[in-house]
Amino acid sequence: MAWSSCLLLWLSLLLSYYVPLSFARAYWPVGASTSFYHFKVQTLRVTKLCQTNDIVTVNGKFPGPVIYAQEDDRVIVTVTNQTPHNITIHWHGVRQRLSCWADGPSYITQCPIQAGHSYTYDFTLVQQKGTLLWHAHASWLRATVHGAIVVYPKTGVPYPFPHPYEEHSLVFAEYWHKDVLQVEEDVMSSGGGAPPADAYLINGSPGPLYNCSATDVYEIAVVPGKTYLLRLVSASLNTEHFFAIADHRLTIVEADGEYTKPLTVDSLMIAPGQTINVLVQADQPIDTYDMAMAPFMSAQNVLFQKTPAVAHFRYSGAGPEAPSRPAEFPAFNDNITVDFALNNLRSLNDTGVPLVVDANLLFTIGLTVEQCHSSHPNTSCQGPNGGVLAAVMNNIAFVEPMVSLLQAFYDNMNGYYTEDFPGVPPKNYDFVDGAPNDTQSLNGTRVKVLEFGSRVQLVLQNTGTVGTENHPVHLHGHSFHVVGHGTGNYNPLTAKLNLVDPPYMNTIGVPAGGWAAIRFVADNPGVWFVHCHLEVHASWGLAMAFVVKDGNGTMESLPHPPADLPRC
Ligand code: C2O
Repeated sequence: MAWSSCLLLWLSLLLSYYVPLSFARAYWPVGASTSFYHFKVQTLRVTKLCQTNDIVTVNGKFPGPVIYAQEDDRVIVTVTNQTPHNITIHWHGVRQRLSCWADGPSYITQCPIQAGHSYTYDFTLVQQKGTLLWHAHASWLRATVHGAIVVYPKTGVPYPFPHPYEEHSLVFAEYWHKDVLQVEEDVMSSGGGAPPADAYLINGSPGPLYNCSATDVYEIAVVPGKTYLLRLVSASLNTEHFFAIADHRLTIVEADGEYTKPLTVDSLMIAPGQTINVLVQADQPIDTYDMAMAPFMSAQNVLFQKTPAVAHFRYSGAGPEAPSRPAEFPAFNDNITVDFALNNLRSLNDTGVPLVVDANLLFTIGLTVEQCHSSHPNTSCQGPNGGVLAAVMNNIAFVEPMVSLLQAFYDNMNGYYTEDFPGVPPKNYDFVDGAPNDTQSLNGTRVKVLEFGSRVQLVLQNTGTVGTENHPVHLHGHSFHVVGHGTGNYNPLTAKLNLVDPPYMNTIGVPAGGWAAIRFVADNPGVWFVHCHLEVHASWGLAMAFVVKDGNGTMESLPHPPADLPRC
């Protein structure tokens, strides 16, 4: 090659690498492609269980469209809000490297997209593959505004397990006949608990066990002898679920978009926000088998829907008239089955767990009761003992700010949040068994600031106030290594940690009356929401946010906001 063309090549390489960095987002120097989507958020009239209602969905589909991509692809989604409600979309589990503006939680990284307006989400799936999900992240619209994200490995890269004959996504949801925004308002103004869903849904269908739903059954046609990959996606709002298939075992091979060592179980628990890939062998006699989701309810005194949603795993040759074989489930409060999976789940490869920790954090999580200050206590203080239910992290109930935290942080706007979220509980006591009924909780919009690159250990400690229950805690913008978990109070002297091959997840079901320890590297500048993925708990305040500061240079700094970022 002539010297001049060599120089040209160098120049163009330099330009392609550096020039885009001056724009609003970082480009990744990989040969990946871009996929474009247009999400029109609309109202759709649906009939379920013999009742017709209007629900909010995307592009007239329920569940919404699947985002398909390959590892390292760039995804650009223009969201147009054709409803009267405020909306945002969150790409749950997408690590959003240097694209915090595209993360989506309302009043955290953006203000909502108002009626008639659009916003374009632009992000790259840097070193990510597997099943994730997208969902609305404004009010309770997630109930029906959700869908799967399927990220295939790069071309030519096989799965680390035998290639399945077919793949299917199963999206789990909870359904209310009442407008979910009304359900939310009723709950929040009552001070009491949330009403049970009218039905659970698998890919939009409840299955035959409810009133007037005999023919509304999702079905997978199965060829005997073949292996199927099922991508399980929980878009449920307020309930964790067990999933099982009659007479078939499930081999977990991926959780939250990261490969795991194969783990074979009869049933598994999936919490809202989690995604689990399982392999299923069609190795049973020709017949129709129920694939079902049933509630896992670790809390006491909570009303919940008990009827499972059922889909069919129908072998070719099975008579359409024959009754399907029912799936068996653990008891609805069987913590042991749930802990078994957590105890035995391992990441497939060494995921580089930080062995040294710079920030050692302990957050208590749980419910509490605030005193009634209403002049109508009978209608608005329906929590325990005439109080108002709330949910707290380190005894602080998170209050949504008036502008997005990211904007306030980026523009140095004062008065919207404070940086004093405590790194450890303000008071030390036996959190599980010695918890007071009145924790004298505070309300506030507080964040915890992390230096770029800090290696964080965060212990999430369940508390016993009001009652213990499993809380699925989600961290935005990072995956974390689940290095340990246990029952009772976390004790650093006796806790056993797995620093070799712990699962690498984005949502962890913290055991009822126990704790979970996670580690992550805060190497993605921006504001990252942390919250319980049971929506009612998040609404009650079980949330906080991390601010991760910029590092050095453009590849470690948050870019400028995109020009179309919705303003409040
Ligand atoms: Cu899947 Cu902040 O949520």
